[in-house]
Amino acid sequence: MKTLAILSRKGGTGKTTLAVHLAVAAWRSGRGVLLADCDRQGSAAEWRRERTVPGPSIFAAKPAALFATQLAAERAGRDLLLIDTSPSANEDLADAVRCADYCLMVLRPSFLDVRAVRETAEMVSRFGKPGAFVINQAPSRRNGKEMACVGEAVSQLSGMGHPILPIGLRARVAYQQAVAEGLSVQETAPSSAAALEIGGLWRLVEARLWPAPEPELGPDF
Ligand SMILES: Nc1ncnc2c1ncn2[C@@H]1O[C@H](COP(=O)(O)OP(=O)(O)O)[C@@H](O)[C@H]1O
Ligand SMILES: [Mg+2]
Repeated sequence: MKTLAILSRKGGTGKTTLAVHLAVAAWRSGRGVLLADCDRQGSAAEWRRERTVPGPSIFAAKPAALFATQLAAERAGRDLLLIDTSPSANEDLADAVRCADYCLMVLRPSFLDVRAVRETAEMVSRFGKPGAFVINQAPSRRNGKEMACVGEAVSQLSGMGHPILPIGLRARVAYQQAVAEGLSVQETAPSSAAALEIGGLWRLVEARLWPAPEPELGPDF
């Protein structure tokens, strides 16, 4: 079983939006997914309550109990534990990072988000965990060009010791509409740009969680 932590110390960056969308993407690809909602506000659980069709399991978890949750999920034969964190104190974040095989640090392309993510990036490095930044709510390109804020965020993040995933989420009403219905954009609008974005992002994350084995060298080598 693999554990994916979705982190940011700031509220509103899109952790829950990303968590529920990745949970559905993983579930649709046949993985046994458990989404641990560590935010006392319970936004992921709210999403699940709206959902009237089958989907990934969710439960409210205390950050300090994540290790036990992880063991239980593994014993139950789950493939993926996804942790949606709260905009919280360092200790809660540390509990999630400690359990994680891979950390996604979510931020919007803005000065304050970039500033705020540095501490999280340092924590992920300190624990020796692999991770990456995901840019969420990026404005759409204008005339094929990224807005300046995206370029600025990318250049500031480049010195923080973790890669930036080449697929992020654009600011799209489709995400808000899907979440309000307990669904994913892959379900509400399967051929939309948003659905393609999520599908592509999940494939990137999946490849980092379960890297393809090195091909064995044949007898000629
Ligand atoms: N890519 C996106 N496009 C449009 N709205 C978004 C996007 N990501 C998040 N939002 C909106 O931003 C707000 C905060 O998102 P949320 O996922 O709750 O963040 P967090 O869990 O980090 O606090 C919500 O209203 C959500 O619908
Ligand atoms: Mg949240």
